[in-house]
Amino acid sequence: MSFSTEIIRWYHQNKRDLPWRHTTDPYVIWLSEIILQQTRVEQGLPYFNRFLSKYPTVTAFANEEEDNILRLWQGLGYYSRARNMHKAAKMVVNEYGGIFPTTYKSLLTLRGVGEYTAAAIASFSANEAKPVVDGNVFRVLSRYFGIDEAINTPQGKKIFYKVAQEMLGENNPAIYNQSIMEFGALQCKPRKPDCHICPLQIDCYAIKTNKVNFLPVKLKGKPSRNRYFYYFIITNQDKIAVQKRGPKDIWENMYQFPMLELTEQVSMEDLKQLDIFTGLFGDNTQLKVLSTPKKHVLSHQNIYATFIELTHIKPDSGKKRPWNYVFIKDLDTLAKPKLIFTFLRDYNICNKNTYKLCQESTKLFWLDT
Ligand code: ADE
Ligand code: SF4
Repeated sequence: MSFSTEIIRWYHQNKRDLPWRHTTDPYVIWLSEIILQQTRVEQGLPYFNRFLSKYPTVTAFANEEEDNILRLWQGLGYYSRARNMHKAAKMVVNEYGGIFPTTYKSLLTLRGVGEYTAAAIASFSANEAKPVVDGNVFRVLSRYFGIDEAINTPQGKKIFYKVAQEMLGENNPAIYNQSIMEFGALQCKPRKPDCHICPLQIDCYAIKTNKVNFLPVKLKGKPSRNRYFYYFIITNQDKIAVQKRGPKDIWENMYQFPMLELTEQVSMEDLKQLDIFTGLFGDNTQLKVLSTPKKHVLSHQNIYATFIELTHIKPDSGKKRPWNYVFIKDLDTLAKPKLIFTFLRDYNICNKNTYKLCQESTKLFWLDT
């Protein structure tokens, strides 16, 4: 049996029942594909359902305020995806009369829609013969056919796209594309794939040559920069200090807590000495570490974030401090980086009357998730 036929057969026996697989509506498929970029299915699913029930059509999506879209997106990270989605929806309304395009070529004109997403929507919604080439597909093709060209070079990409196009055939692009992605996600997994129960093992290059763990090949990109963020949780009765991030860096215009960025990990004693916020740390100021540094990986940077509760800060000496106080209950309405969102979810503000920070509870009473 051929590679494609075997993959499709495997898919029919093993596929997960996912809501976006029951539709050919390009809007719904677009929604799912953008959400699933760099997001696991289990994590993306509730977001998909929320977005779809709130915005059943692309017009409803386009007419929404950007802030509300960002708010619903909270927790997924990469907010540019959400902003681009909103722009794309407006383009569909303004340039395509509200009819979501289904051809690969026109889909590529939409904001935030690249080759992968265009191929996914065009094939799933209209059976156009464009191969999807995502991480799963690179892995399956590279292992099965023994392609050791790096997947992240122009030369490598060209080779993989050519093989992907050949395997796609003209028969059923929609099913084949779903099949190879699902095969990569569930069977030919990045680590420890279950080769002994794999229907492709007889002809698989990687298993025959014992190279499963060496394929696909990826060239190391530029090294990641380490950044150390110290966030200060400063409350004043039912209010909390927040700061809006500036331009030209990650998380542009998003809200965070007042913070200090350093190039290395320091102790609380050192931190106190640094007293970057002039006059913030007085003799009585208490620093309580709420969470030990968590690594947050972005492309080309690792953020190590420590959250510190500050009490008894020095009164300000008339000089305006670089933050504002907002009601704790209103935090939910501000667009925040995933890092902050996750912190708020895990380190609950548990006492509704005093809004004291505590770590015991794990659910924020004011989050509507
Ligand atoms: N990841 C990206 N697209 C997907 C899809 N259509 N089904 C399952 N996982 C996916
Ligand atoms: Fe992937 Fe192993 Fe199957 Fe080869 S035999 S396709 S490496 S799961």
